[in-house]
Amino acid sequence: MTAYEQLVAEGYLVAAAGSGTTVASVRTSPPAGEADSSKGFFTDLLPGEPDPSSFPRQAWGVALRKVLHTSPDGLFRYGDRRGLAELRVALAGYLARSRSVVVDPSRVVIFGGFASALSVLATTFHRLGIDRVAVEDPGLPPLRKVITAGGPAIVPIRVDEHGLRVDDLAAARVVLCTPAHQYPMGVVLSATRRVALIDWARDNDGWIIEDDYDGEFRYDRRPVGAMQGLDPERVIYGGTASKSLAPGVGLAWLVLPPRLLEPVLDTLRQRRDTVSSIEQAALADFIATGRLDRHLRSQRQHYRRRRDSLVQLLENHAPWLEVAGVSAGLHATALLHDRDEQAIIERAAARSVALFGIANHSIGAPTRQGLVIGYSRSAAHAFPQALETLAGILNLR
Ligand SMILES: Cc1ncc(COP(=O)(O)O)c(C=O)c1O
Repeated sequence: MTAYEQLVAEGYLVAAAGSGTTVASVRTSPPAGEADSSKGFFTDLLPGEPDPSSFPRQAWGVALRKVLHTSPDGLFRYGDRRGLAELRVALAGYLARSRSVVVDPSRVVIFGGFASALSVLATTFHRLGIDRVAVEDPGLPPLRKVITAGGPAIVPIRVDEHGLRVDDLAAARVVLCTPAHQYPMGVVLSATRRVALIDWARDNDGWIIEDDYDGEFRYDRRPVGAMQGLDPERVIYGGTASKSLAPGVGLAWLVLPPRLLEPVLDTLRQRRDTVSSIEQAALADFIATGRLDRHLRSQRQHYRRRRDSLVQLLENHAPWLEVAGVSAGLHATALLHDRDEQAIIERAAARSVALFGIANHSIGAPTRQGLVIGYSRSAAHAFPQALETLAGILNLR
């Protein structure tokens, strides 16, 4: 009886008086048009999300309970537009220590995700008279839409083996980039280019938005520090809990240069977006008690093992692929030389494998062909099978 009641409560079974209990026909499918891009595929090799089964439920629960038991009633009121002070303090310490960000808590602003932060920045820049924002090509497509929805037009800038081609930036005053691990190509912005990028910003009264989306995941070498430390007056640092914890946590942050703080707060006042103070307090506690560091240490090992298995598999089954960008992050970029990206992706789709390529991320005609293989999204038990399926696809000509 208890098991039946539990299944009914979770929506797996439907109990109707007089007609017994039946298996529910439709359960978790989202409304039409809201489906995840991997939906309908059996194997998920898309980039962009950590393994949801590794979310630290237990430890997060401890933090949440502590917050609910010990916080003053003020936690449940409308609060500071910048976000909860405890979280801004905890993040300032964490970012200085782990990412070499030059930061004090008064310049940290909390958002419901990096995409929301970018939306606020785009609107703010537009109000300041900036009508163009440069983005990396290839890059993450949804972020381009977020920028144009805020007003500014997009200026695509090519990425090569040293990262963003800074010399091509002339036409813009703001650039969105991923210096530590270019998304999706995986290259690190070279030291020469970093200096050139800072010089560009200084010469043009420009701004650099540093999207440090997966800065926590480094495997083979010392972390690449954030660029923001080179010029905290010109670089807007952006981070997110979407990779280090999960997108479901819904928290991200900007560290703003002093001159941008008031303009951004003005935009926020107009929008009146709110971010859960309860979740913010939980993350503050999670950081302050060392639980985030512990979680990240175990996640790094977990994903390094997956990365190693993937690289090994590619070496064994597809030596014709050139694997790049695997010292960091949650995806590998596998460059193709004499094979067709689209053909491989279609072959994968026919076997119910969700897989993206460089073309999925490009604005102009791509200069390279390659697969962007996410190795973090499938649950641990499903990953070996995902690799086997991938091997099968790559073995076909
Ligand atoms: C390169 C890159 N930047 C930013 C984001 C967005 O992060 P958030 O979930 O905080 O909006 C993602 C998420 O997939 C990403 O891949």
